[in-house]
Amino acid sequence: MAKLQLAVVVGSNRRESINRRLAQALAKLGADRFDAYVVRIDDLPMFNQDNEGNLSAEVVRFKSELERADGVLIVTPEHDRSIPAVLKNAVDWGARPWGKNSWGGKPAFITGTSPGAIGSALAQQHLRAVMVSLGTILLGGEAYVTFKPNLVDDQGNIGDEGTRQFLRGFIDRFADLITRLAPSQAERVAA
Ligand SMILES: Cc1cc2nc3c(=O)[nH]c(=O)nc-3n(C[C@H](O)[C@H](O)[C@H](O)COP(=O)(O)O)c2cc1C
Repeated sequence: MAKLQLAVVVGSNRRESINRRLAQALAKLGADRFDAYVVRIDDLPMFNQDNEGNLSAEVVRFKSELERADGVLIVTPEHDRSIPAVLKNAVDWGARPWGKNSWGGKPAFITGTSPGAIGSALAQQHLRAVMVSLGTILLGGEAYVTFKPNLVDDQGNIGDEGTRQFLRGFIDRFADLITRLAPSQAERVAA
């Protein structure tokens, strides 16, 4: 059975990113429904409207990887109670140039983690507002994850059973949402 193509965007450029570990664990958890691929954002140039008419190879690659996805998973930390700059930069490139918005109509599931008690809730809330403005179709619900040492175990699985089931629910609902939005996709998956 063909699987849904899932673009994974991690809102961190940190080598040991806990959000990248969570993203990889989510990709593993949903491997029966999604073929996931990580979309790199750390090599994108700083957004500058002067360069919209002459996109760098990195930006062209980024936008085409978004566009070929059936859905996008964004796993983000919180920086100063908001969206990390590296992720906002990628969001802006995805949205531009005018008329070439790579996010439009794209189903997206936003989650993320932080050691703080509310996970990366405020960053996720800010990001939701931005993505809605760009026409992204967001999965409902709130997936705020507090980072604990066993969040992702040595095998790359979600370590805690309750958290695993909680996130599995989002993965299933996300796959169902994509399939409902695109009947042709449903037919392809069923074929
Ligand atoms: C500039 C900066 C701002 C931060 N602001 C917050 C914050 O507002 N809320 C929070 O929970 N953690 C905050 N943190 C801590 C991050 O949650 C922590 O560094 C986490 O590991 C970042 O995720 P990453 O490992 O995926 O990059 C901040 C970290 C940095 C470097």
